[in-house]
Amino acid sequence: MGKYRSNTCGELRLSDAGKVVTLSGWVQKRRDLGGMTFIDLRDRNGITQIAFNLETNATLCEQARKLGREFVLQVTGLVKERESKNLVIATGEIEIEAQTLEILNEAKTPPFTIEENTDGGDDLRMKFRYLDLRRTSVRNNLVLRHQMAKETRSFLDSQDFTEVETPVLIKSTPEGARDFVVPSRMNPGQFYALPQSPQTFKQLLMVAGLDRYYQIVKCFRDEDLRADRQPEFTQIDCEMSFVEQEDVLNMFEGLVKHLFKTVKNFDMQTIPRMTYADAMKFYGSDKPDTRFDLRFVELNESTNNLISGKGFKVFDEAELVVGICAPNCASYTRKQLDELTDFVKRPQIGATGLVYARVNEDGTVKSSVDKFYDEASLQAWANAFGAKPNDLLLILAGPKDKTRKALNELRLEIGSRLGLRDKNQFSCLWVLDFPLLEFNEEENRYFAMHHPFTSPKPEDIHLLETGDLGSVRANAYDMVINGVEVGGGSVRIFNKQLQGRMFEVLGFTEEQAQSQFGFLMNAFEYGAPPHAGIAFGFDRLCSLFGGADSIRDFIAFPKNNSGRDVMIDGPSEIEEKQLKELHISVRTES
Ligand code: AMO
Repeated sequence: MGKYRSNTCGELRLSDAGKVVTLSGWVQKRRDLGGMTFIDLRDRNGITQIAFNLETNATLCEQARKLGREFVLQVTGLVKERESKNLVIATGEIEIEAQTLEILNEAKTPPFTIEENTDGGDDLRMKFRYLDLRRTSVRNNLVLRHQMAKETRSFLDSQDFTEVETPVLIKSTPEGARDFVVPSRMNPGQFYALPQSPQTFKQLLMVAGLDRYYQIVKCFRDEDLRADRQPEFTQIDCEMSFVEQEDVLNMFEGLVKHLFKTVKNFDMQTIPRMTYADAMKFYGSDKPDTRFDLRFVELNESTNNLISGKGFKVFDEAELVVGICAPNCASYTRKQLDELTDFVKRPQIGATGLVYARVNEDGTVKSSVDKFYDEASLQAWANAFGAKPNDLLLILAGPKDKTRKALNELRLEIGSRLGLRDKNQFSCLWVLDFPLLEFNEEENRYFAMHHPFTSPKPEDIHLLETGDLGSVRANAYDMVINGVEVGGGSVRIFNKQLQGRMFEVLGFTEEQAQSQFGFLMNAFEYGAPPHAGIAFGFDRLCSLFGGADSIRDFIAFPKNNSGRDVMIDGPSEIEEKQLKELHISVRTES
């Protein structure tokens, strides 16, 4: 295998006993036991025990006793059966009786232990990310990512997609987040924007006749960060020509199934579909976690109002009264119920209170609002939920959107408490028919919910004229896995007049539309094919496949929540000379 090693630290077995081998790697651990010293030597493939015998080779053993953690070694020796075997590791039946030892490099004591359960906190691990990446679990995440990228390419290649690179120094794209900008030295006062996605370019590639495009591509968005958001992240970005929504859904259902099969050996069944309206009504979220049911039941529907007129003002005056049925939770104690009440009343959730009703063993129902509702009313509630003995009804009331949002949080909390959100289980869902437009109170105007190139559903186009803009549905779709939005896309507008109308609705003057998107609208005048596409959040897909909540562990060098790379200490100030060259006015000390 070359000068430094004949084998890796993960491959020798009992059947290799008697061979003389050379291994190279890092010192994981040293143990000095009387006449023997043992070193666990680690490389990316595993760990092999090296034995140094004081009696048979005193010089070498003395040398070994000076080795520190993470020293880089090259060891030659004889493969021998171990006296006390360690069957937990693959090489645990053998050890290497060292004959020569070369220290390839010394190492400072690492700031945290490089083991599965490290003592390093998040910040420290990120500062020394190259050491963190020596830990098997973190490195394995990158290997998983590599496999996912490889299988994505293999599938899309088999479907005749061409990978095309699009530029990184571009003009602002209309994805809705803030742009990162780069000053242009050669064009004083002007800035490039880093792409929030290659959206406009992939549409131009369709005009260019590429037909099926994809790219595993870095995107940049200057937005507030969370566990599943990074300022630079990766998309599997795709676009197809001469297709309608159904073709896109089928193609990318194929990709997701392929990834589950090849990477997880999991047979994903046909992916169910739900409209946005139903997702909001039954789960209070456009990305419901469908690993478990606990659907919302509304109690004040106009056709079946089960709560009004009994004197309970909170319910009577609420726009929406809605609840979930937590199975086998009737035995929750007062303390547990208070905890749930506090949970929904937290400012970030914002409910004003929580009403509960226990379905007893004998089928009778006891609620926190018994004063207002008699047994017959409570039975009607239980029936509406399809509740069984020992179930617990949890009900919220208030303005529609806010209450749905709060109950979504409560549903997820109950799902977690009941162990219904197993990371090794996968539930995929297509959410369809998103609204085309979203009203922004602050700016007092509509924004495109997906982006301005998304086409309205043909049967709703007339609503763009009659003014009921909020109810126009789009040919837009999201893929959701375990409650995480892993991808989204749409059928595009390819007609110049409709695109023009869309910009008008979004409050662009013709000049503004021309100056920002003229290049695309002009291209549409040269024979744009019908086209549609989707982009998957690659980091999110990888973290889901890896069973993790945060995408950070699947990115080699991620940023922290303030958008900093604490390892390289960026972003940083730049020299005044550089600022001048870029025509950026120089700071003055105040
Ligand atoms: P969208 O904005 O929905 O669509 O993005 C597609 C997917 O990218 C992932 N994603 C992110 N992942 C990590 N960090 C972020 N900051 C982040 N932002 C988004 C999500 C999301 O579903 N051009 C359109 C796609 C199209 O219409 O074809 C687009 O970018 O998983």
